[in-house]
Amino acid sequence: MAGLFDSYTIKGLEIKNRIMMSPMCQYQAQEDGTVTPWHFVHYGARAIGGVGLVMIEASGVEARGRISTRDVGIWSDQHIAGLKGIVDFGKSYGAKMAIQLAHAGTKAETPEQNVAPSAYTRFERYQTPHALSRGEIAEIVEKFRQAAERAVTAGFDAVEIHGAHGYLIHQFLSPITNKREDEYGGSMENRLRFAKEVIAAIKAVIPEEMPLLMRVSAVEYSEEGYSLDEMIEMVKHFKAAGVDLVDVSSGGSLPEAPPAIYPGYQLSFAEAIRRGANIPTIAVGILEHPALAEEAVRNERADLIAIGRELLRNPHYAKSAALELRAELELPNVYSRAF
Ligand SMILES: Cc1cc2nc3c(=O)[nH]c(=O)nc-3n(C[C@H](O)[C@H](O)[C@H](O)COP(=O)(O)O)c2cc1C
Repeated sequence: MAGLFDSYTIKGLEIKNRIMMSPMCQYQAQEDGTVTPWHFVHYGARAIGGVGLVMIEASGVEARGRISTRDVGIWSDQHIAGLKGIVDFGKSYGAKMAIQLAHAGTKAETPEQNVAPSAYTRFERYQTPHALSRGEIAEIVEKFRQAAERAVTAGFDAVEIHGAHGYLIHQFLSPITNKREDEYGGSMENRLRFAKEVIAAIKAVIPEEMPLLMRVSAVEYSEEGYSLDEMIEMVKHFKAAGVDLVDVSSGGSLPEAPPAIYPGYQLSFAEAIRRGANIPTIAVGILEHPALAEEAVRNERADLIAIGRELLRNPHYAKSAALELRAELELPNVYSRAF
């Protein structure tokens, strides 16, 4: 059984350990979506700190798909150079670099009109979205394709589709937010259609050996939403369409927070999807206690462990965890002298 500090290979990508930096919006980009020195320092520090796979935050595939006007963008070729700088630096310290491609749909708070499968939201803070026409859906699929192409040009090792947290792709998947009566709504097959089109578009432009990750909300914490079993069925479709690794989060369609948050609160979802859909998974959610992360990997409940807030607190989390587990993790020479 592999442990947290054993390497992991998926398709052509070898990651030096099982720790992924979870995607976390920094709200520090310029208003045109360009990254700033903040991103370079923030992601670079975690690469130096020994994280195996650094995932750049939700990055907008179009301007009206941003969560805020300070989100990272990947909708223009002008964004490539800044991202490439971060990628090159991270890779030079042995990290693998990935980026989350996102469209916020209803949850976009930008000057533009927000869009969604249906003109419906349960959140008071968001405007009622414009329901996308078929033609507009095709345009957004194309934006995801172009964004993936830019990610490849910037040198990323992998891309992750943001299909969770009540953002656009999840809005199509969930019966809570998808009220359409055409081929994009109603049955599970129809609700899956947009996500599958996005997957196919991205697969067409990334190298064969590059893994495709997808973040999903495993459960909706509501009878009105889909169940874990239904998500397992959906993941089987994503796998057939070309997704290699599923990043398992939860919730987001409704304003209410999950009923309870505790160490490993989403781990059983990652395990259930891993077994049920026979696909590698990433577990996330208060997993920073090294013994808990190690247990999850060694007992094959998940393949990678995503760490979010702990990596905001401690850029050298990976080294601290390695010391606690008495595992090897090399940092740049001068830092090693401090541990
Ligand atoms: C500041 C912040 C920003 C976040 N931004 C994103 C994001 O861009 N994309 C995403 O999928 N999740 C986002 N998340 C969720 C995290 O990736 C992670 O799933 C969550 O924080 C739970 O993991 P943790 O307990 O290790 O922090 C964000 C979380 C935080 C705290």
